[in-house]
Amino acid sequence: MIKIIDLYKSFGNNKVLRGVNLTIPQGETFAIIGRSGCGKSVLLKHIVGLMMPDSGYVEIEGKRVDKLTKKELYELRKKFGFLFQGAALFDSMTVEENVALPLVENDYDFSEEEIKRLVEEKLELVGLPGTQNLKPAELSGGMKKRVGLARALVTEPEYILYDEPTTGLDPIMSDSIDNLIKKLADQLNVTSIVVTHDMFSVKNVADKIAMMHEGKIYFVGTAEELMNSNDETIQTFINRTEKL
Ligand SMILES: Nc1ncnc2c1ncn2[C@@H]1O[C@H](COP(=O)(O)OP(=O)(O)O)[C@@H](O)[C@H]1O
Ligand SMILES: [Mg+2]
Repeated sequence: MIKIIDLYKSFGNNKVLRGVNLTIPQGETFAIIGRSGCGKSVLLKHIVGLMMPDSGYVEIEGKRVDKLTKKELYELRKKFGFLFQGAALFDSMTVEENVALPLVENDYDFSEEEIKRLVEEKLELVGLPGTQNLKPAELSGGMKKRVGLARALVTEPEYILYDEPTTGLDPIMSDSIDNLIKKLADQLNVTSIVVTHDMFSVKNVADKIAMMHEGKIYFVGTAEELMNSNDETIQTFINRTEKL
């Protein structure tokens, strides 16, 4: 379970998080929506301790992330797969090297053979078998996202954070990424957080939705509750987003 308690974060005068409270139960797929620049990526970074709060805290499995030692934080991050906004593959490395990166960086005790096998398995899972030796420049946008996803999965995480996994993709590719997120949630029983402004994606993959607005969680509920809401702020957001 991930608990976010009264989280505040500013950058200079820019008050981004202004008392975020949210609980994400184990095994659920949660979507986080909200206008561009409202602090969604900042919130994700607090969950894995890549950013530290000004006040408030994130608690994962009963432990405060801001109180962890370096070593404990390291151990915690091993439980997480993170699909960063824009996939962020290294152009000079092959697909195989890119996907294997978390295994190498976090000094796991895997042999070269095991690493090869894990990479192969995850590339198959995301529908890209046999692409190990390609370079990112040889891949389409959708394929890059899939490689990023294989990399997020390679450590077999309990939690997966997706930062705008379908942004910039055509509807067919978006749909297939959505299906992949759903498949992973079902098959691997992971807890997932999907940051998105794709309303179609929200309806498709999320058990629950949290909407951020003015530095707080403005709404939590199902897609149906969101779509049927009469709240003006929610309506404005949905109408704007559906036209994108
Ligand atoms: N490392 C940083 N330093 C300063 N400002 C930042 C940093 N990261 C994010 N911000 C600011 O925080 C706000 C929220 O950013 P972000 O979480 O990326 O928005 P989004 O909801 O689009 O993901 C923006 O105004 C952004 O400029
Ligand atoms: Mg963002």
